[in-house]
Amino acid sequence: MLNVAVIGMGNIGNTHAPVYQADPLANLVAVCDILPERADRAAARYGVRAYYSVADLLANEALDAVSVCSAGVENGGDHFEPTMQCLEAGIHVLGEKPISNEIEKARQMVAKADAQGLYYGINLNHRFVPPAAKAKAWIEQGRLGDLLLINMTMWIGNPNESSPWFHIRALHPHSLDIMRYFCGDVERVHAFFNRAPGRICYSNVQVNLHFANGVVGHLTGSYDTNPRHNLERCEVLGTQGRFVLDNLYEELTLYPRHSEELTVLRNSIMGGLSGFNATFSNRIHRWLEQVDARVPRAELEASGHEGLAVQEIIEAAIRSFQTGRAEEVPVA
Ligand SMILES: NC(=O)c1ccc[n+]([C@@H]2O[C@H](COP(=O)([O-])OP(=O)(O)OC[C@H]3O[C@@H](n4cnc5c(N)ncnc54)[C@H](O)[C@@H]3O)[C@@H](O)[C@H]2O)c1
Repeated sequence: MLNVAVIGMGNIGNTHAPVYQADPLANLVAVCDILPERADRAAARYGVRAYYSVADLLANEALDAVSVCSAGVENGGDHFEPTMQCLEAGIHVLGEKPISNEIEKARQMVAKADAQGLYYGINLNHRFVPPAAKAKAWIEQGRLGDLLLINMTMWIGNPNESSPWFHIRALHPHSLDIMRYFCGDVERVHAFFNRAPGRICYSNVQVNLHFANGVVGHLTGSYDTNPRHNLERCEVLGTQGRFVLDNLYEELTLYPRHSEELTVLRNSIMGGLSGFNATFSNRIHRWLEQVDARVPRAELEASGHEGLAVQEIIEAAIRSFQTGRAEEVPVA
């Protein structure tokens, strides 16, 4: 059982907190927000103590782990300070994505967790669904043969116009994490962006990716669609077949190369995932399991290193658009 607190009580902090309360591995003891009314409202809702600063929280509670659910510029600008305070105090941190909108700060947080020997995870929740685990098992069992290519699409409708790079920095940690989950590290990228009429933000992107294992990939991203039609789709092709993982967890299909017989897994209404919030419950439960079991740090799933890896790809994609060339992705 881990004593936990949630820092940043907006919509997403209020998604993490009830998950901790419902999980037998966690004991939610406090919430924290620099906006007192948000901290107080959440404290009343969950029956825990409220703090208005991370320093106060750390001085008064014996914590094992925290969720950092701040936001800020490009939804990642505020994570650095509370994350560093908690790591400095010896507390394990599960941070929201993007790890940071500033790559140098992302690198510093990952280095700090390494230096402290602490667990640092990122809420890359889209991969924590049973069909993704099944698809990964198919790859590991050789059902696809040697991997050759991957196509990924993630598109939602988001009118937010905070900055030119908001769309790729805030949304695509998720899509790129799914691509890395199946196909590994990315070495080089080439990207084009455009803006829908009237937008400040580059609301559409196409990225070509070259993976370290030779796989070639493509990401399509948009902030100009209706996610009720389809949020995401991932297709992986190998020498022996391909799979399509449709809409995060709705349907997974294996198309063997030399057979007409398909394998289809649907998200049943009987026992399937209840909705998008279930991805938070799954991810946070896995975080708690791994921290509680003190697994070797290198085994932590969706770790800070992996959160950094997707942000390095994003920054390389932005550089590529600016230079007009394919760009190398630094090792995270
Ligand atoms: N994983 C997902 O599927 C998913 C989905 C949506 C959003 N997010 C991420 O969740 C994060 C939070 O999003 P949100 O919509 O809840 O944001 P929000 O702005 O509504 O809430 C953030 C809260 O953090 C507080 N805060 C900022 N700095 C703080 C600090 N140092 N100490 C204490 N409190 C602090 C703010 O006062 C605010 O109340 C973002 O990083 C966003 O990208 C993740």
